[in-house]
Amino acid sequence: MRAHVVPDYEAMSAAVADVVAQSLAEEPSSVLMLPTGTTPLGMYRRLVEMHRSGDLSFAGATFFNLDEYLGLPPDHPASYHVYMKENFYGLIDADPARVFVPDGAAPDPEAECERYESAIKEAGGIDVCVLGIGRNGHIGFNEPGAPFDSRTRVVRLSESTRKVNAADFEADRAPECAITVGMATICESREVLLLASGTNKAGAVAAAVEGEVSESVPASMLKTHPNARLFLDEDAASDLGQGVVG
Ligand code: PGA
Repeated sequence: MRAHVVPDYEAMSAAVADVVAQSLAEEPSSVLMLPTGTTPLGMYRRLVEMHRSGDLSFAGATFFNLDEYLGLPPDHPASYHVYMKENFYGLIDADPARVFVPDGAAPDPEAECERYESAIKEAGGIDVCVLGIGRNGHIGFNEPGAPFDSRTRVVRLSESTRKVNAADFEADRAPECAITVGMATICESREVLLLASGTNKAGAVAAAVEGEVSESVPASMLKTHPNARLFLDEDAASDLGQGVVG
């Protein structure tokens, strides 16, 4: 797992957007897996700018999102459907038939998870998986303890995650459960790019990079991946010891 440390949030966003754009330039039919949250907003802004200036088309690509809250209809303002539409899919030339976000309101969530996992397989697996990291080390909504062999499934969110995400919801109550792509599915991606910005991620980044590979720190699994890269701003890298980055 290589870590690229750049000065600030904008530099991190630019670096990751460039890698994604390069992948699409080389292979326009790439299959991407994408995150939500605050961290990737700068990356999405840059990719949209590249598209608007005519330098980048997403028309041949396939997109999968990492996760969605359980119980939220796709038009709920705090849903990841709405987030992705407003920040990315609605602003580029993505083919709606090749945009996949788990349906949090599916009447049979287990069947939805199976359907989602099958769709990833049918697309030929993920070429580039972009991830954020939670303060507790989660990736997607794979909270600490998530089995490394897990697949797309319904999970219970940790109290700390619900607290961090509470502001998006009325009465500050985030949903208790979500659908997330599993650890094994993430790890089978041909390339993984993890973004982290800010001192509130420094502890999780250090635990993932310098600690043992352990299910108690989900992002540590990426150390077993042959082609995983971390893009960190200096604040997110501030707990890393000397000599481990470069
Ligand atoms: P954030 O979320 O980008 O909003 O910090 C990241 C995550 O929880 O994976």
